[in-house]
Amino acid sequence: LMDNYEWIRGFSQLVVCLAWSDGSIRRFPPGFMFGVASAAYQVEGGWDADGKGESMWDRSIHEHPDLVSDGTSGDLSADSYHNYKRDVEMLRELGVDFYRFSISWPRVFPDGFTNNKNEAGFQYYDNLIDELLKYNIEPMITMYHFDLPQKLQDLGGWANPLSILWFEDYARNLLEQYGSKVKYWITFNQPNGICMEGYGDGTMAPFVSVKGIAEYICVKNVLLAHARVWKMFNDKFRVKNKGSLGISIAVNWLDPLNNATENVQATDEYREFTIGLYVNPIFSKAGDFPQVVKDIIARNSKEQGFRKSRLPVLTSDEISAIRGSADFLAMNHYTTSLVSRPKKNNHPSPSFEHDANVKLTYSKHWAVAKSPWLRSAPYGLYKALIYLNLKYDYPSIIITENGWSSDPGLDDTQRVDNLRSYLNALLLAIEDGAEVSGYAAWSLMDNFEWTAGLSERFGLYEVDFDAAEKTRTPRKSAFVYKEIIASRIVDE
Ligand code: NOJ
Repeated sequence: LMDNYEWIRGFSQLVVCLAWSDGSIRRFPPGFMFGVASAAYQVEGGWDADGKGESMWDRSIHEHPDLVSDGTSGDLSADSYHNYKRDVEMLRELGVDFYRFSISWPRVFPDGFTNNKNEAGFQYYDNLIDELLKYNIEPMITMYHFDLPQKLQDLGGWANPLSILWFEDYARNLLEQYGSKVKYWITFNQPNGICMEGYGDGTMAPFVSVKGIAEYICVKNVLLAHARVWKMFNDKFRVKNKGSLGISIAVNWLDPLNNATENVQATDEYREFTIGLYVNPIFSKAGDFPQVVKDIIARNSKEQGFRKSRLPVLTSDEISAIRGSADFLAMNHYTTSLVSRPKKNNHPSPSFEHDANVKLTYSKHWAVAKSPWLRSAPYGLYKALIYLNLKYDYPSIIITENGWSSDPGLDDTQRVDNLRSYLNALLLAIEDGAEVSGYAAWSLMDNFEWTAGLSERFGLYEVDFDAAEKTRTPRKSAFVYKEIIASRIVDE
């Protein structure tokens, strides 16, 4: 009996041991999807090929080449328009589960309006999607990644409430065309980039700067356009593709510089302006813009002699249309900043509220990327995910961008370190309850980094922009990511 007892005890210890060691290996959960991301204007080139219309990026840069720090443009870029087969080959080399790319609106509808369809443009996306599906790579389509048809910008772009209808019409066509093949949809990439940078501080196309006014009109229009498309998707297309539709939101992390009350308060407010403004209307129970954002803009507007708040009101019908209008939060996360109140309050007028009262710094211990705003602080991804969990009740999330910029060169140790440590932080957050079902590295290959041009390289693959073929070569990080995808394990 004693012998038997010992044996049973030994066996059960072994079982416990195996279970424990399996836990400590730290594997991504079954079904977790790995991918990479890109965007049309940043990789496609072919800016006027085969009937493509002009986008507001084409127009802005052609008229003002000095807007881009190294004088380049997206005219040719990586020429994915002619290289899609090589792109898919790279995706197969990496072994990804999905590819997030965007459709260029003016490539398929040159004037923006859907009466004039560019068949050649659709052909390009037909080919890309079919090539992906042939190799079991799920396409994830971003409907809009910053490149509005110039004709629609001539009419005011996202500051015109009719943009809601233009976008709905465009999106309907995309869903009709690809709704039965494509499961994952994202309406907008980063409304903060579209609105704050595009119409507020004027640092992205259309480079309009009607600060404190235009960006908020834009935010309202974009949210309403998104909500309409989600409803259309939910009513008519979901059954066809059993898919899901979300919106990409930039959720970088903010921590107070120290525990001083004014810094903690500034951080809370700044989070609401940079994250809550977009997340709250869609993902909170109550809907609407965050109360503190409404209060601050109303107070500032009053001080400036406006009769009404510069922040447009969302009516109760609009609130209920927007609330809950996403199957997942597509989260773009890159970095963390430390927030403090500047000593002197340099409150400009009419103020760009969220920048006016904060100063952003970084820890000296965080590695600096080629992009000046980008520091490696993986704990921030963990904290951002836990924050979203607690504040928005465990939303379903796909990380649709995370990455690192460098100089050219194949030995990209910093990108490798950044990738591993962010994936580790992600895994920790998942273990602590974050409902994240996928991760996309930005980016598949080097591309046109907006006003930084080709000077900031984000690719797992290096692109030789001087070569006519735009040759792509895997960096060290590509091999590392490939291994992670195959094993589903990241070691620390
Ligand atoms: C987010 C944007 O969506 C993407 O277009 C950009 O290249 C990356 N951030 C890196 O800055």
